[in-house]
Amino acid sequence: MYSGRALQSSRAVARGMRGFSSGQSLHSQQEAVRRVTVIGGGQMGSGIAQVAAAHKHEVTLVDVNSEALKRGQAYMVKSLKRVAKKKHSDDEAAQSRFVDEIMGRVTVSTQLQDAVGRADLVVEAVVEKLQVKQELFARVSEAAPGTAILASNTSSLPIGKIAEGLEEGQRRRMVGLHFFNPVPQMKLVEVVRTEEADAQVVERAVAFVRAIGKEPAVCKDTPGFIVNRLLLPYMMEAVRLLERDVASPRDIDTAMKLGAGYPMGPFELCDYVGLDTIKYIVDGWHKDGAGLKGNPLFAPSAKLDELVKSGRLGVKTGKGFYDY
Ligand SMILES: NC(=O)c1ccc[n+]([C@@H]2O[C@H](COP(=O)([O-])OP(=O)(O)OC[C@H]3O[C@@H](n4cnc5c(N)ncnc54)[C@H](O)[C@@H]3O)[C@@H](O)[C@H]2O)c1
Repeated sequence: MYSGRALQSSRAVARGMRGFSSGQSLHSQQEAVRRVTVIGGGQMGSGIAQVAAAHKHEVTLVDVNSEALKRGQAYMVKSLKRVAKKKHSDDEAAQSRFVDEIMGRVTVSTQLQDAVGRADLVVEAVVEKLQVKQELFARVSEAAPGTAILASNTSSLPIGKIAEGLEEGQRRRMVGLHFFNPVPQMKLVEVVRTEEADAQVVERAVAFVRAIGKEPAVCKDTPGFIVNRLLLPYMMEAVRLLERDVASPRDIDTAMKLGAGYPMGPFELCDYVGLDTIKYIVDGWHKDGAGLKGNPLFAPSAKLDELVKSGRLGVKTGKGFYDY
């Protein structure tokens, strides 16, 4: 009997086998990730580094800016101290040991090539600019071991596009690992499988996500993956309700929290994510997002444009739909 699943998996194995180059053992392709290099020491990168180190991985955090690395380390220590206080509430020495032990597994560096040289997994979390990410992966793939998983934490760029300039064998090792903010608290990681990604690489990425205490959701490389593809139309529709004067932000938020059981209302969520970020993503998709071009769900909103233009970007600027 024909089995689509069996056929798919034998093709996946065949693709995986083609991924080997001489000298790379099956073992090295399959073994668990231990050494992680995170590139970009901002909000997301430092969170990813913290969580990986907390789950016994050896981590190198890289940034072009040494001040960003200092801020990233301070963010990790602050966050770990909060965890330590809960874990060892009346033992200050144990709290310090907890933080020191985890931070002892994190090295920081501004030297990209050195930092990726021994990595089992490289996670990129730099600015959301296609060209910057493409140039970065060109450099990473030269210096990283031929068995390393290459991953991007992009929210809105196609993983296949970021990997476009790499060699075929490198493209087969590229996936998306989309973490959520704040990383230490958010349980989900979307594992984005490009058409070219080897099944074994995806499996290894999924195993890594579980090993750091997160829950993976595997999806295809399409705009917004799962969460943002559903959330952005929802947030834009809330803004359009406001534009049509159907209800105030407060009433819409109350309605969705109490009527639909959402933990935050859409306007609270917009302000938390940042209105400039939302505008950047929906404008990009509406202009040329694969399959989303001209989709009215992502059409520009006069209200959103006006808020962004006046610098009301949400929580980060103290004003958005609400004042903070
Ligand atoms: N902030 C979020 O809520 C969120 C959620 C999920 C995914 N993301 C994605 O994560 C990525 C990072 O976002 P963020 O909010 O942490 O940004 P951020 O601005 O806080 O940090 C980016 C860091 O990257 C560094 N950087 C820039 N170019 C670099 C390069 N070439 N090499 C090394 N370091 C470089 C910067 O110095 C900065 O420290 C983006 O792709 C974003 O779309 C963000």
